[in-house]
Amino acid sequence: MGAILELHDLHTRFPIYNAWGRRTGWLRAVDGVSLTVTRGDVLGVVGESGCGKTTIGKTIAGIHAPAAGSIRFEGHDISTLSPRQGRAFRKGLQYCYQDPGASLDPHWRIGRSLSEPLAIHTGLSRTDRHARVREVLAAVGLPEGHLTLYPHEISGGQQRRVGLARILMVQPSLVVLDEPTSGLDVSVQAIVLRLFLDLRERFGLTYLFISHDLAVVRLMSQRIAVMYLGRVVELGVTEQVFVAPRHPYTRSLLAAVPVVGGRRVSTDFALEGEPPDPVNKPTGCAFRTRCERAEARCAAEEPALRTLANGIQAACHFAE
Ligand SMILES: Nc1ncnc2c1ncn2[C@@H]1O[C@H](COP(=O)(O)OP(=O)(O)O)[C@@H](O)[C@H]1O
Ligand SMILES: [Mg+2]
Repeated sequence: MGAILELHDLHTRFPIYNAWGRRTGWLRAVDGVSLTVTRGDVLGVVGESGCGKTTIGKTIAGIHAPAAGSIRFEGHDISTLSPRQGRAFRKGLQYCYQDPGASLDPHWRIGRSLSEPLAIHTGLSRTDRHARVREVLAAVGLPEGHLTLYPHEISGGQQRRVGLARILMVQPSLVVLDEPTSGLDVSVQAIVLRLFLDLRERFGLTYLFISHDLAVVRLMSQRIAVMYLGRVVELGVTEQVFVAPRHPYTRSLLAAVPVVGGRRVSTDFALEGEPPDPVNKPTGCAFRTRCERAEARCAAEEPALRTLANGIQAACHFAE
């Protein structure tokens, strides 16, 4: 099947101010990302905290405006639309907050939180809205009695289900799931992941699955994008990337994943220290300051993402 989402050289930046409120620079949180998501797929997005995962998800969903580049969703360039024009198109593209509990109004009963998006986005009658609320509530595995409860009266796992149900109300085709299992007990995580897969089948969804948990991403996604300081450094079929990562950063990330029994996959490329300051990125390859293979060329020349023999894309001068 074809592409549902195409990002081309996407940039999102935040102003940096000094103590006197003067803008002194820009933080380039998303710094030239191009990628394609195939309809029906799950694309995993991984990378250390601060590498721009949330910003890319929110930019796609229209919560942040891109500074440059294009976002094509279902064949339409949505990056240049005004917020009002964009709303109609973006109904199909929903962002699920990292903490859905926080995105629910604490003073509203669950039923109202769920039917509100229908009142805004659709012309459904009251009866039809109620029917849709019940259908989606059942699909996310919550009893009808929950409709009259407040967010604080339900558990974290249930809040996540409500957050998801709220998004599903408007029948999206692409859902950005941002760290959807963080903060959940391992046993609840497994159930929620199963639910994501069931809902994808049932509602024909495509996911952008953002997580710093590599094991979860491996389980869930067909393809994976590895980000470092606002750029995609490796992109490819998940299994291939996990078995034979090409970029030194991906190798380091994977080396840091604990495996069953407490052994590590490899100790060759353990990552040290923190990523550099995103406001003052190193010249050339941003990873070079932590890379064992770095040479003079890496400081002089920024490596472009290029397709290697095995079909994986990597942004490293030396990847092959
Ligand atoms: N609203 C904002 N204003 C200023 N800087 C931001 C904002 N949101 C994120 N950032 C910065 O952008 C970078 C990317 O952040 P984020 O997308 O949240 O990363 P991730 O989700 O991968 O942890 C970080 O350096 C972060 O501090
Ligand atoms: Mg984040």
